[in-house]
Parts: sequence; C-alpha cells; structure tokens
Amino acid sequence: MDTLALSRLQFAVTAMFHFLFVPLTLGLGWLTAWFESRYAFGGDEKYLPIARFWGKLFLINFALGVTTGITMEFQFGMNWAEYAKYVGDIFGAPLAIEALAAFFLESTFIGVWVFGWDRISKKAHAGAMWVVAFATNMSALWILLANGWMQRPVGYILRNGRAEMVDFLALLTNPYGWLEFFHTVFAGWVIAGFFVMGVSAWHLLRRNQEEAFKKSFGAGAVFALASSLLLAWVGDLSGVNAAKNQPAKLAAMEAHWVTQKSAPMTLLALPRLNGEGNYFEALKVPYGLSLLAFHSPSAEVTGLNDIAPQDRPPVLPVFLSFRAMVALGGLFILLSAAGAWLWRKDRLAEFPLYLKLMVFAIPLPYIAIQLGWLVTELGRQPWAVYGLMRTAEGVSRTLTLRQVWSSLGGFVLFYSALGVVDVWLLAKYARKGMEA
Ligand code: HEM
Repeated sequence: MDTLALSRLQFAVTAMFHFLFVPLTLGLGWLTAWFESRYAFGGDEKYLPIARFWGKLFLINFALGVTTGITMEFQFGMNWAEYAKYVGDIFGAPLAIEALAAFFLESTFIGVWVFGWDRISKKAHAGAMWVVAFATNMSALWILLANGWMQRPVGYILRNGRAEMVDFLALLTNPYGWLEFFHTVFAGWVIAGFFVMGVSAWHLLRRNQEEAFKKSFGAGAVFALASSLLLAWVGDLSGVNAAKNQPAKLAAMEAHWVTQKSAPMTLLALPRLNGEGNYFEALKVPYGLSLLAFHSPSAEVTGLNDIAPQDRPPVLPVFLSFRAMVALGGLFILLSAAGAWLWRKDRLAEFPLYLKLMVFAIPLPYIAIQLGWLVTELGRQPWAVYGLMRTAEGVSRTLTLRQVWSSLGGFVLFYSALGVVDVWLLAKYARKGMEA
C-alpha cells in the first residue's frame, strides 16, 4: 500500500468509528427532551426517571463522540495537506460555525442539564435538553454542508490553484448538503428509536419497571417509524439528486452499464470484480430505473460504459452497500410499524419473540448508516471534490509510509478501546434500569 491508499484507509477508519458514536445522540436528545417535557410541562412525575435514564445514556455516548470527532479535523492538515490547501477557504466558514454556534451551544447546555437538576426550574431544565438536541442536529448541518460542497461544489472561483469562496449563500443553500443533512439526521433518529426500543424490550422481557419501559418503547417505536418513513422519502430524493449531479455514482449504485431511455431496474445483479459489466442480471422492472432516478418513465439514465474508466467509482462495493442499505431501510419500517402497533394495542408482552428480535436489532441501523456513507463517499471517487480535485491529488506530499502506519495503528488501538468502553458503559447503565 502507498501513502495515498493508507491515508484513505485511515480516514475511512476514523470517520466510520466517529460515526459509530455520533448518530445515537442525534435522536436520543429529542427523545430525552420529550420524556422530560412530559414531566416538566405535562406534570406527569412518572416521566422523571425515564428522562434521567435516557439522558444518562445520551451523555455517555456524547462524551465518546466528541473524542473521535476532533481527530478527524487534524487529518486534514496531516494526511491531506494538499486537499486542505485547496478547500481551506471554503471549509473554514462552515467548520468554524459548527464549532462556535452548534458544538459550543450543545456543550454549554449539556452542562446546564447535568448540573442544573436542583438549581433551575424544571421547565428551564427540560428546555436545556431541547437546546442540546437542536444543537446536536445543527452540528450535523454544518458538517454536511461542507461535505455537500465536496459532492457538488458551488459559490467558488479557482485562483492560484485553490478554491476560494465567493458566494457563501450558495454553499448554505446547496441542495446536495441539505439532502445529506436530512437523510443523515433521520438515520440518526432511526438509530435512537431502535436503541430505545431494544433496551426497553430487554427490560420488558425481564418484567423490569414495565410501565416505564412500555412508555419508552412506545415513544421509540413511533419515533423510529416516523423517522424511517422520512428517511426513505429523503433517500428517494437523494437518488434523484445523485442521478442529476453524479451520474457515475447513480450508475454504480444500480450496476447500470448501458446508457438507455426508459431504463428498467435490475433487481438481481452482480457487478464484475474487475469493474467491467455484470456477471449476471435478472428480474428487470420495466421503466423502474428511469422512474427511480428521474421520477420519469422515459428519462435517459447514463450507463457506466459512457463514463471513462478512470472517472468511475468502484462499482461492486457501492452497488452492494446501496442494496443492503435500502433493504435494511424497508426492514426498519416493518419492525417499527409492528412495534408501534403492538404498543398501541398493549400487546407487547404477548410477543416475546418480537421483543427478543428488537434487542438484536439495535446494531442494524448502525450497519445501515455505515453502508450509506460508503455509498456516498466511495460513489464520489475518484474525486475528493467532485469534478475539481481527485483524491490522489489531495494527499500530503511529505508523508511517509511509516508515519501513516503508526498513526493508523494508534487510531485503531485507541478507537477500539474507546468503542469497547462505550459499549460496556452503555450496556452497564442500560441494564441497570431506572432509578426509583
Ligand atoms: C429506505 C431507503 C433508502 C434509500 C432510498 C436511500 C438512498 C440513499 C442514497 C441515494 C444515498 C446516496 C446519496 C448521495 O451520495 O448522493 C444515501 C446515502 C446515505 N444513506 Fe441512505 N437510503 C435509504 C435508507 C437508509 C438507511 C436505512 C440508513 C441508515 C439508517 C441510511 C443512511 C444513509 C447515510 C448516512 C448516507 C450518507 C449521507 C448522504 O449522502 O445522505 N439510508 N442513501
């Protein structure tokens, strides 16, 4: 492996680790704020231990998410110096706003929430968690507007070999970034809904604090159902957006090789490992791909054969990740709809098998979210900044193999340890149940 491949591997490892810790907080903040509001504004005392319980799990996850986020930005300077020079003028603003307006807001109000229990009114305390939840999601917005610029550069000019921002509003209103934002936060909300359902199911199977965990399960199920439906809807819009802005990514997602009007959707296919055509194709849905990609049955969909080989993303991993993500998305709708229905009918206890399944389903949305990022980032290759800068051009020139091996090894060890601590702490406090 050369320094480019290793640096890519390191960025992928750190980004994927980071995204194991972050997404739960995107949704668990809203759910905690909701539980606490039922107590603070609705006057229902039973919700106080519920809010404390989920709030504690939120805090554990938040602390570990911060640690893994900071190192990502260091890599821009260390491994990706050429890239950092190229995009620094663009990325500076959104990343600074993220730190100042969203992350500081979130951290400050987390402090208020942790230390404010007996110091401020219960309504102000619940309000603090709403601010935390809002700020956590806003953090994602600024990062994804920056990522959206890499997917679809807007509002810039090229001067002295680097991109300079000339229109901040264009970056702010870039539809690519907004679609990524909504798709990602809804995915995070699904993770939180499944987490709350899974942990509650574990307690319901043991008949621990049944009333409180039934309430938690219900909120988790309704939240997960609404979020998975929104996620699928935005996912569909993201497909149309990719078809318009990154035809090679869309073609790789669908293993679509021949440019065609009224293109059918191939349900079963397997792209060749060498990146030329498919081993086999079966079960074609007439007009399906044109409808999916452009919402029009007669639209022309560009095939990979019309994209120069050096401009194509790696087809097999993009194709497989996309299929698996969408299949999981469908499964989440079914599982959360079943949960919401059983909860509404108060029949959860009659279906222990379903409850067991929901405990084992906790990791599934985590897998889906990683697959989603693989589609987006591998699908953008070979570009770091779509159409402007190739990934290979962004790597630091003075980097040595030994340096990257040692930092990658360090990251893997450190993050694995953090991961173990995170899961161990979450499991420990999740099993403990609520304080009386
Ligand atoms: C239900 C059907 C789904 C559809 C149609 C769908 C569609 C898409 C598409 C087209 C992309 C690539 C966007 C681009 O790079 O231009 C994407 C990316 C992504 N997906 Fe999905 N997706 C679905 C389900 C899910 C699920 C269940 C999750 C996770 C729980 C998920 C998480 C992600 C993430 C995190 C990304 C990367 C961020 C982004 O580009 O928006 N998706 N999805």
